[in-house]
Amino acid sequence: MPVVLSSKVVVSVKWQKETFPAVEIDTSQPPYVFKCQLYDLTGVPPERQKIMMKGGLLKDDADWSTLGVKEGQKLMMMGTADVVKAPEKGPVFMEDLPEDEQVIAVGHSAGLYNLGNTCYMNSTIQCLHSVPELKSALLKYTNSGRSNDVDILSHNLTIATRDLFSELDRSVKPVVPMPFLTVLRKKYPQFAQQHNGVYMQQDAEECWTQLMYTLSQSLKALESSDSTATVKTLFGVDIVSRIYCTESGEESSETESVYSLKCHISQEVNHLHEGIKRSLKSELEKTSPSLGRSAIYCKESCINELPRYLTVQFVRFFWKRESNQKAKILRKVDYPLELDVYDFCSDELRQKLQHPRKVLRDEEGIKLGLKGKKNSSAEGDDSKKAAAEGSSSLGESSNAPTQEAGKSEKKPHLTGIYDLVAVLTHKGRSVDSGHYVAWAKQENGKWVEFDDDSPVPQREEDITKLSGGGDWHMAYLCMYKARVAEI
Ligand SMILES: *[C@@H]1O[C@H](CO)[C@@H](O)[C@H](O)[C@H]1NC(C)=O
Ligand SMILES: *[C@@H]1O[C@H](CO)[C@@H](O)[C@H](O)[C@H]1NC(C)=O
Repeated sequence: MPVVLSSKVVVSVKWQKETFPAVEIDTSQPPYVFKCQLYDLTGVPPERQKIMMKGGLLKDDADWSTLGVKEGQKLMMMGTADVVKAPEKGPVFMEDLPEDEQVIAVGHSAGLYNLGNTCYMNSTIQCLHSVPELKSALLKYTNSGRSNDVDILSHNLTIATRDLFSELDRSVKPVVPMPFLTVLRKKYPQFAQQHNGVYMQQDAEECWTQLMYTLSQSLKALESSDSTATVKTLFGVDIVSRIYCTESGEESSETESVYSLKCHISQEVNHLHEGIKRSLKSELEKTSPSLGRSAIYCKESCINELPRYLTVQFVRFFWKRESNQKAKILRKVDYPLELDVYDFCSDELRQKLQHPRKVLRDEEGIKLGLKGKKNSSAEGDDSKKAAAEGSSSLGESSNAPTQEAGKSEKKPHLTGIYDLVAVLTHKGRSVDSGHYVAWAKQENGKWVEFDDDSPVPQREEDITKLSGGGDWHMAYLCMYKARVAEI
């Protein structure tokens, strides 16, 4: 069994005129985590914190055991807090129009009414509701269509999701998601937790993952029906990992299917790309059969199959055992409108992506007027040959017809390039409080912020500013849509 070395030391921290009397240091974590806790408390980013310790300033990666911090010790921190500037709001150009004209002009669906601390749920719903393929899959799900291996509550939750999605589409006025919420709480009682008679705030990522899991189970039955995309082909990421122990030379591999990539956040991570890269490498401690004791194993993972909608979760919350609470890392981590995940793919998948990527680049080159028609049609011949040799058609991983089935018809192929279509943000300093909001790109290409019952149009350039570093809304989940090549 892994040996968990955990210990906590409670210290007091003085900063400017304030004193925080009981800050818990988890000495099994690097000092950087402690600095993140102080960031939560003070708003001073870790890189600007100066904390005096025996032997000088506290370094991010120092070893607590050599620093000799004692229970009750008084520490002093220097540093100035971030001045949080909210990005400029986009022009709310619709606000003077009457409501029905607004809906026609803006082209987005209705908002959701506040049912008391349910923003984790309505922001999840709004993000997933922006996926047309999921909507059409749900529309095919019938009240009597429950397969035997799906329990009644999963069935009811799927029906409730379907009905809520269509109500959102039909509605001009905000929708009250009560039937959905009732079934969600029945199926997953953790969302019914109360504190002093009030329903508690919940983690949107948990709601997202649970709902995704339920839908994938119940919609599986539809798989046989030709072109309906399954939740797996829409959102599932297949990961293959190599697990090895340098000490003993043992090596094994493991595959798993997940619904989101993780973006790990540490002091070196400034960008989504780096955060994903780090999360694909980890160390674990487990019993080595050949050594007969526990040893450190390295786990290196890569993507073996990509979905049409790729979700990335910023791992902003970490569990603090002592306080039985999730703490939040506020660090700014930028994310792009266009994400290329080629670097994270297995060799096998890269091979499949190569040709579609070339076709996509050529098409985009033509659009930009960078390439002459002649030139590209010559390359087009080459590409057909390459296509015949096998590239990754969406059909291979889904149930769409395969290449042979329709030779003349073009099929979409994944390229590993994705465009941002939805962002779920969290604002506030703890997972149990704060506020979740959804920012989703509508089918007409316009961005809308779904907060409370009134959706607000947004400018695309403001969407990537939700990257953290202060008290403003910051990205917690990002959903990207595959850019495909028609071959
Ligand atoms: C599932 O939904 C049906 C129809 O609304 C309802 O009659 C039934 O009681 C629900 N089942 C459970 C276990 O909640
Ligand atoms: C959903 O509900 C919460 C409160 O429970 C509300 O504050 C929030 O703005 C709503 N969010 C959306 C996305 O409609």
